[in-house]
Amino acid sequence: MVKERINEILEEARKDIESANDLEALQEIRNKYLSKKSELMSLMSALGSASPEERKELGQALNMAKGEIATLLNEKQEILAKKALDEKLKKEEIDITLPGTSYTRGGKNPFHVVTDEITEIFLGMGFKVAEGPEIEQDLYNFELLNIPKDHPARDMQDTFYINENVLLRTHTSPIQAHEMQASNGGPVRIICPGKTYRRDDDDATHSHQFAQIEGLVIDKDINIGHLKATLELFAKKMFGEKREIRLRPSYFPFTEPSVEVDITCANCDGKGCSMCKGTGYIEILGGGMVHPNVLKMNGYDPEVYSGFAFGIGIERVAILRYGIDDIRKFYQNDVRFLHQYRKKA
Ligand code: PHE
Repeated sequence: MVKERINEILEEARKDIESANDLEALQEIRNKYLSKKSELMSLMSALGSASPEERKELGQALNMAKGEIATLLNEKQEILAKKALDEKLKKEEIDITLPGTSYTRGGKNPFHVVTDEITEIFLGMGFKVAEGPEIEQDLYNFELLNIPKDHPARDMQDTFYINENVLLRTHTSPIQAHEMQASNGGPVRIICPGKTYRRDDDDATHSHQFAQIEGLVIDKDINIGHLKATLELFAKKMFGEKREIRLRPSYFPFTEPSVEVDITCANCDGKGCSMCKGTGYIEILGGGMVHPNVLKMNGYDPEVYSGFAFGIGIERVAILRYGIDDIRKFYQNDVRFLHQYRKKA
């Protein structure tokens, strides 16, 4: 009786396994025949109450049935797993002969190319990069740079005031004061690239927002020869070995003496052309020896320490470098403009 039932179960299991079409169905079949609650297993536990001969015979039959079912299940499992993988691979097949998706590569704005180049040149000379706030106190933008209230030099740098004492910085020079104070009367050698703001009518050469790189060196025995040598090296690295510089006397309230620095025109090699308006030179920056008042106000004894400072207009350098005719092009984000400079960069 029991033996027949075992054979029936075995027969049933063979059919079930044979017809299983996927791994899920196979798992159900495995549960049906081999789980603790399966009929085969309950027959197994019923053996305890059978006679010794019966137990031996039935035990063997049960074990064989169980073994065969397990083997059949495992074989089928392998077949179905392979089938599932094949189907998955087929579904995910990529047609490598299809044309790919093309992505347009962006171009670095020549403004940033030039900022990075200038920064690299000065890093190579041992300068460090410093930063300061764009929203600045009148104290740092003017007072500590020897431009007291009502000083006529303020007119040249009219700006956007947040309130009476807070404004958008008109130049990167306030970072000079911040850095001098932060170094507690010790040496300083920094450059500071950053945005600056002035109340200006925007045209081809003016913008209410532009950028500068400030430079400041403070130490014992610094003289104007250091300023000239530093800027000459910068000019040659930036514009080419053949470029010469010229220092012209100028005026800034925070430097004394003050200079404008010109380089020989790259277009005509200093002979005179339309680009340099016949002079052979193009102005690239302002600078000078740090004014004793500025040293004093920011914690230095001008009898012991001296220094030089300079300010470079970044857009101006980029315009000269790439022959760009309108400063506004830097800010418009027109890809046609950017792509032209991608190749050069
Ligand atoms: N801050 C000056 C300007 O904006 C440039 C400058 C910087 C001049 C440092 C001298 C020293 O025009």
